[in-house]
Amino acid sequence: MRNPFVIHEIPVDGVFCNRQKELKDLVNFAKNGINVVLYSPRRYGKTSLVKRVQHLIQKEGFLTVYCDLFGVTSVEDIATKISKSLYKIVYSNEKLLNKFMRLIASFKPTIQPDPSGGVTISVTKSTNLYGLDLLEDVLESVSKIVNDNELKLHIAFDEFQEITEIDNSLQIEAILRRYIQTFNISVMFVGSRRRILLDMFSNIKRPFYQSANLYELKALPYDELKDFIKKQFKQNGKTFPESLIDNILEVTKCHPYYSQKYCYYVFDLAENKVDEKVLKIAFNEMLLSEKPIYEAVIQGLSSKQIQLLRAIAIEPTKSPFAVEYMRKYNLGSISAIQNSIKKLQSLDLIEKKDSKLWMLVDPILEIWLKEF
Ligand SMILES: Nc1ncnc2c1ncn2[C@@H]1O[C@H](COP(=O)(O)OP(=O)(O)OP(=O)(O)O)[C@@H](O)[C@H]1O
Ligand SMILES: [Mg+2]
Repeated sequence: MRNPFVIHEIPVDGVFCNRQKELKDLVNFAKNGINVVLYSPRRYGKTSLVKRVQHLIQKEGFLTVYCDLFGVTSVEDIATKISKSLYKIVYSNEKLLNKFMRLIASFKPTIQPDPSGGVTISVTKSTNLYGLDLLEDVLESVSKIVNDNELKLHIAFDEFQEITEIDNSLQIEAILRRYIQTFNISVMFVGSRRRILLDMFSNIKRPFYQSANLYELKALPYDELKDFIKKQFKQNGKTFPESLIDNILEVTKCHPYYSQKYCYYVFDLAENKVDEKVLKIAFNEMLLSEKPIYEAVIQGLSSKQIQLLRAIAIEPTKSPFAVEYMRKYNLGSISAIQNSIKKLQSLDLIEKKDSKLWMLVDPILEIWLKEF
């Protein structure tokens, strides 16, 4: 029996829960040339959704470019990634490929078949330009291509906030903004480090200030997710009693990735009908498989930051500066806490929820930290 639960990015023709309104909104924005910032905590389904949006608008004649900026460390990296993602969409269309190769003169593509039957595309820099000049050159080329060919172009920049990690990020943002403004294209800026990403678009001192519509991707709606899980089990020959699905959703808080992952293990372990014992083992398996990720998160933090993170996991609080709280969890000075909050927020590990309580963003990391 095939396990219907997907724990990697969902392919555009894969089984997807809900997101109907989001798809409709995002397709409309794209078609109307409205730029959007799509943000959410990690693993909420942004990338899967963006690819779906692009798949839908391709049918309406859009050329769609997906550019993942994760891990960029320099302006050259950005220019390289943009060129590479452009070549990726036109490699199979000889006419367009030739046009692109003529116009994007600073990067030449190499296209090689890969063992899976697809192709691998790499680009090599073929100019003396470097730094910001190189980026401008690539963007100038894109604007020529778009204008000369009256292309309908849609670009999604995934993990867009990563640009801020580069030294001259304000200049990079200014150049990107200038070109995006003059292109006749629509752009989606996607990211999970919400504080940093939103600051890029809502801080008056930054080039992208108020240049795009802010669109939050929330956790999946409870009832839809519950139905989705029930149906996936039923269609694949297993029964998941409703009250036990409630137990799962209470733990995952309808987090798309964790709900899928938890169900993946439950489906794997259950004979025919899910029972509480299966839920318990499945949860432990999930925790075990996430452990290396959590350990990597912890390793990147100072001891005071870990102490605060753990304190908030154990006891969400309105006031981490309350003397008793500081003492109870050995949080150090007020300025140490202020710095820790800043860091943990920038990593999107903690947030102030509607109730004004500081809480962990990730519901399973929260459970793990309590036991750690
Ligand atoms: N609509 C959905 N229905 C069911 N599962 C979903 C849905 N959206 C996302 N998921 C689950 O969430 C996982 C993460 O999806 P995806 O990689 O698209 O998220 P992301 O927000 O881009 O993550 P990251 O922050 O790591 O980049 C998927 O593997 C899938 O298990
Ligand atoms: Mg993603």
